[in-house]
Amino acid sequence: MRVAVTGANGLLGGEAVAQLGGREVLALGRGPCRLPPGPYRYAEVDLGDGRSVEAALRAFGAEAVLHCGAATDVDGCERDPAMAWRANVDGTAEVARACRALGARLVAVSTDYVFDGQAGPYAEEDQPNPRGAYARSKRCGEEAALLLAPGCAVARVAVVYSGRPGAKPTFATQVVEKLSRGEQVKAFSDQFVSTTLAASGAAMCLELLLETAFTGVLHLSDAAVLDRVAFAQAVARRFGLTGEILPVKTADVKLPAPRPLRAGLKVGRAAALLRNRPLSLEEALDRFHAEWQGRLAAG
Ligand SMILES: NC(=O)c1ccc[n+]([C@@H]2O[C@H](COP(=O)([O-])OP(=O)(O)OC[C@H]3O[C@@H](n4cnc5c(N)ncnc54)[C@H](OP(=O)(O)O)[C@@H]3O)[C@@H](O)[C@H]2O)c1
Repeated sequence: MRVAVTGANGLLGGEAVAQLGGREVLALGRGPCRLPPGPYRYAEVDLGDGRSVEAALRAFGAEAVLHCGAATDVDGCERDPAMAWRANVDGTAEVARACRALGARLVAVSTDYVFDGQAGPYAEEDQPNPRGAYARSKRCGEEAALLLAPGCAVARVAVVYSGRPGAKPTFATQVVEKLSRGEQVKAFSDQFVSTTLAASGAAMCLELLLETAFTGVLHLSDAAVLDRVAFAQAVARRFGLTGEILPVKTADVKLPAPRPLRAGLKVGRAAALLRNRPLSLEEALDRFHAEWQGRLAAG
């Protein structure tokens, strides 16, 4: 089966390409390829230009598409909502239209930010109420996928992190790096979140894409819901790191985009549906720690 992955240079997309070894894979990314070498083809695309993704999917003859590409800088989207719309709505619509035309199965990745964070954790049937440009654009992208590619699935993840060599910095990696250097870590004590180890999220997304015919919305984060201070403390414990984790309140930090405070995803449906079930916090951090050791060994 010919499988395409958008956002292939990103956290989730990079993991997905790595896990697809053995299949015919087209990795679609912005700019030059930043993935380790492997048995995949790579094409440079701009999700917002209205042409390049569909052309690449057509030329490849995609049969299944995992759409991970997105403008994910929440504050950057707030500063430039037109950019957020192009990448997250127009880009997703283009991927969905191409999938429909090609008869390809689509899984479009989305976010817990579609909820307002008043009453999380949220189940799939809870009502989205996005706040801010990133959140609104991702919610519209969900609708674009569901409308334009009937039979597709929308997979919501949250607070993605990875210890894979070359993976971009995240809150979790900053906790490890800062505490290792003896620096203080600041963490929001009033933001309750789910987290998603990219390797686990990618495995669940690929199973959903390639081994099920599930249609509609599915939550695919790790299982725990906790505040960011507790997450930072759990990371520190697993890595044997001590040092100061300073709790801060969201309202005390001037951020361009609003953050959902009581967010988080209920993942019972994914646990019942998938062989790759959502990981517990301990399982996820064990794997993150192992990835980090591999990264240190790779230099
Ligand atoms: N990261 C999180 O904490 C988080 C939380 C909830 C949901 N999600 C969702 O999970 C999915 C995967 O995100 P991720 O965590 O893997 O984030 P990521 O590492 O930022 O990956 C997104 C990828 O999309 C690419 N991209 C952005 N704009 C593009 C454009 N106009 N044309 C082509 N490619 C473009 C980025 O390219 P560059 O590498 O060049 O920037 C990046 O490689 C997204 O749908 C995101 O909304 C992420």
